[in-house]
Amino acid sequence: MSRILVTSALPYINGIKHLGNLIGSQLPSDAYARAMRQQGHEVLLICATDEHGTPAELAAAKAGQPVAEFCAEMHEVQAGIANGFRLSFDHFGRSSSERNHKLTQHLAGRLADAGLIREVSETQVYSHADGRFLPDRYIEGTCPNCGYDKARGDQCENCTKQLDPTDLIEPRSAISGSTDLEPRETKHLYLAQSQMREKLTEWIDSKTDWPLLTTSIAKKWLNDGDGLQDRGITRDLDWGIAVKRGEEDWPGMDGKVFYVWFDAPIAYIAATAEWADATGQDDAAWQRWWRDDQGAEDVRYVEFMAKDNIPFHTLSFPVTMMGASKEGEESWHLVDYIKGFNWLTYDGGKFSTSQGRGVFMDQALEIMPSDYWRWWLLANAPETNDSDFTFAAFQAGVNKDLADVLGNFVSRVTKFCRSKFGEAVPAGGEYGQAEAALTAEIETRIRAYEQHWDAIEIRRAAAELRAIWVAGNEYLQHAQPWAVFKTDPEAAAASVRFALNLVRLYAILSRPFIPDASDKMFAALGLDAASAEMDWPREAGEALSALSAGHEFTVPDVLFAKIADETREALEARFAGA
Ligand code: 2FM
Ligand code: ZN
Repeated sequence: MSRILVTSALPYINGIKHLGNLIGSQLPSDAYARAMRQQGHEVLLICATDEHGTPAELAAAKAGQPVAEFCAEMHEVQAGIANGFRLSFDHFGRSSSERNHKLTQHLAGRLADAGLIREVSETQVYSHADGRFLPDRYIEGTCPNCGYDKARGDQCENCTKQLDPTDLIEPRSAISGSTDLEPRETKHLYLAQSQMREKLTEWIDSKTDWPLLTTSIAKKWLNDGDGLQDRGITRDLDWGIAVKRGEEDWPGMDGKVFYVWFDAPIAYIAATAEWADATGQDDAAWQRWWRDDQGAEDVRYVEFMAKDNIPFHTLSFPVTMMGASKEGEESWHLVDYIKGFNWLTYDGGKFSTSQGRGVFMDQALEIMPSDYWRWWLLANAPETNDSDFTFAAFQAGVNKDLADVLGNFVSRVTKFCRSKFGEAVPAGGEYGQAEAALTAEIETRIRAYEQHWDAIEIRRAAAELRAIWVAGNEYLQHAQPWAVFKTDPEAAAASVRFALNLVRLYAILSRPFIPDASDKMFAALGLDAASAEMDWPREAGEALSALSAGHEFTVPDVLFAKIADETREALEARFAGA
């Protein structure tokens, strides 16, 4: 059994995320963590809200609230939604926590000691119309790399190139649209990433098992020449982590804060420290996950994120971690595997808050149970390509896979048993050829299912699970206990006993995808979910004889209600956007 540290990219605090954000990191991180926990690994799943930077300031201003208050409220909102989707974070922290302030300042101090921070006098864009310095992402213009005309000053979201505002052609303020921008002199800190080129290249080259999406983006920026140029890690903002060198003031840095992208990944670590604090543990408890010199060497650290986050996680954050590490002092654990995702589109286009286009996480939970979303999104995760969400595809997935296949199986078996044998697993009859064949098939499929989870190939895991459900249905279709019962009730009893064991197996195997339905199945079988979920099937034959004759059950309520055409049409209209 291994120790697996899992982090999900941190959602920005500025608003409620849409389904694309959900499937881009938080949801798959949860499903993977669940699958690993169920198989007996020691797992720690960490997420947090990403609370600094201009987007937070502007969102607070728009809401007419002080930014600290806005963030505190929004954090609770996002935490509530995460619960609604059953995201099983061991801790959902905040990048604005005291822990993150201290740790970010500490790591910046260590980077400075290692000679990896340069002080640079630079000119920064000042907007007269807005009366402020404009942070990078609030300057828009044309991308010098691909020509996209809405590129932001920090990154072009069309070609993912990291940019500086001065790179933009025809820059304008994204706040006011004003082009009355003036460059002004000010001092900033730069992370000397370029000094680490060789070390980084060697490290990324050693990651031969990483998905192509991750390594191709990482290598593109490494080899691009300017992908690894030194980057400013301070900003002229009020809200953020004050620039300090460890616990000491940093001369010339008064009134400045660290750049949000510097402190955000550090918040993975800080949120783990928050977890230790919240669970009454000491520093050693979180350090054994993050510090190789404190026992983290055998940890497997897996990060989940959408592809636009990959450059920061393959370059800047590893530079911070490597740069702050020194033999005999501190040694920070680098990521072992990065699972990157492409985009989820909405009906062929982008999700848009302002246009009301697409489904946002809070709305999703209002209209359908979380399992429906979880299943569709995970089964269609944008792993190798972008995926497109449409309500038609969603309806088909829910109605066919969940209602017709899994739900129908559970309902038929339990209802038939209740009507003919009562609410207990029936005795009598012998298993024969059909049961042996299905057991063998399921054995092979469970092992494949495990491998897909190990490789974090989520669509494949979903397809394998669906095949396991289908196999059960086909078995029942052939065994026909309702017909056989009339002439050979013993044989019917054996089929039903076998099928009830399949229900238990489905409750276990389906749990990473649809935890609520899994809970209902366990409850119907009179099993305690918390312990039953740990009965991972090591051997199919054994797993399929866990429930013996006499074991009592109840018929569960309908597990999945079908989505009607009228409902689908109404939802399509509601979320189509202006
Ligand atoms: O792209 C985003 O949504 C960022 N808030 C992700 C940050 S991930 C991590 F580095 F904190
Ligand atoms: Zn571009």
